[in-house]
Amino acid sequence: MAKNVILGAQWGDEGKGKHGDVISRDADYMVRSQGGANAGRTLMIDGEQIIMHLLPVGIVRPNVINLVGPYVLMDPEVLKEELLIAKKCGAKVILDDSAPVVLPIHKQIDRGREKLAGKSAIGTTQRGIGPAYEDFWSRRFVKLGDLATKKSFEKALLEREYYQEKVAQTKFLGEYFLCYEKLLKWGEDFYGLFNSFFGDTRAIVARAIAEDKNVLFEGAQGVMLDCLHGARPYCTSSFCTLGAISSSFGVYDFDRVIGIAKAYVTRVGAGPFPTKLDNKIGERIRSAGAEYGATTGRPRDCGWLDLFALKFACRMGGITELHIAKLDVLSCLKEIKVCVAYRGVDKYSSLTTEVLENAKPVYKIFPVWKEDISVVRDYDKLPGEAKDYLSFLEKFLKIKISAIGVGPDRKQIIYR
Ligand code: IMP
Repeated sequence: MAKNVILGAQWGDEGKGKHGDVISRDADYMVRSQGGANAGRTLMIDGEQIIMHLLPVGIVRPNVINLVGPYVLMDPEVLKEELLIAKKCGAKVILDDSAPVVLPIHKQIDRGREKLAGKSAIGTTQRGIGPAYEDFWSRRFVKLGDLATKKSFEKALLEREYYQEKVAQTKFLGEYFLCYEKLLKWGEDFYGLFNSFFGDTRAIVARAIAEDKNVLFEGAQGVMLDCLHGARPYCTSSFCTLGAISSSFGVYDFDRVIGIAKAYVTRVGAGPFPTKLDNKIGERIRSAGAEYGATTGRPRDCGWLDLFALKFACRMGGITELHIAKLDVLSCLKEIKVCVAYRGVDKYSSLTTEVLENAKPVYKIFPVWKEDISVVRDYDKLPGEAKDYLSFLEKFLKIKISAIGVGPDRKQIIYR
């Protein structure tokens, strides 16, 4: 039995899809704990690409029961599509009926705010995440269970003037709003659709742990996008650390907390990015790594691996081991840099917006290997330059690297 966790250790898009898939091969349960359809996880299985936003990537494995917990924002439009993929895969899925629902109004507010903000926009995924979590924290929201029938949906919308207040907000932001009748019509696509998937995911996790099952919790986004530890406002609106899992399921001790980090850094949306490469090298990494958003299609900014930020993320995230993803992408370069410090910044400093905006990275330079490492499956067969690079990371971070990704396919991985 095991209670394991996968967490993004950078600014999201670390390769949690592919690495989550390989880690889930022994899991009985895979449990999504936070975020919403802003997440994009890409799997490549025998040349076929699958992109998931809400359901755990465990849906592609018949041995895994997939749970979506009470702190996940349920987007009915995305759920409907992904449940069809899950059905094709023959997957078992249980959705927590107490989880908050993202309504069209939340997406309108998200879009309206970004438009009004102009140059200071956050660059959100426009999936309604911030506005829907606001409602969750103010305890005024529609639960997934409320979509059971038209009657229960209407009751939830009208309770304590919830709908009326949302309309006032969208009007203020100059957004077109769905009139009440249209909102009920939107709901028609979903009434009753999810009922057979409803379950009490907290109870299921508790029973699974009591019965010594192998439970794998799947984080979304990354610690550097956490709503508390990320650079506000350039972060997401959920906790992206172990905290989200502990609060959701009452689990406080874990066997392995596996952080996923790319061998370089990418970031989408606005906000400070100390090691960003605004030049040909950044473009080369973007092209070699196919760095385009899985949710929005936006080109991702690319930069050198930031070990100073990664160390902070491992500490705040509770990460106990790392997978390094996409090492093969660095083969396209002549030399590699890694950031080991921000000049003058204390090594235990919080990485606030101000610290990141003023950061002056100190780099260490490494040579690049000449061999094609995407075909390597055995750590000892990696070129010396690649092994030196990885062992420097381990020493600096004081964390074991337990696997290395060398290509998009689930088979392109080196275990240690
Ligand atoms: P939101 O979560 O849509 O509100 O977006 C807030 C910030 O988090 C933006 O910079 C997004 O680009 C970023 N973000 C949210 N989800 C992800 C993700 O899964 N991967 C990478 N960035 C994300």
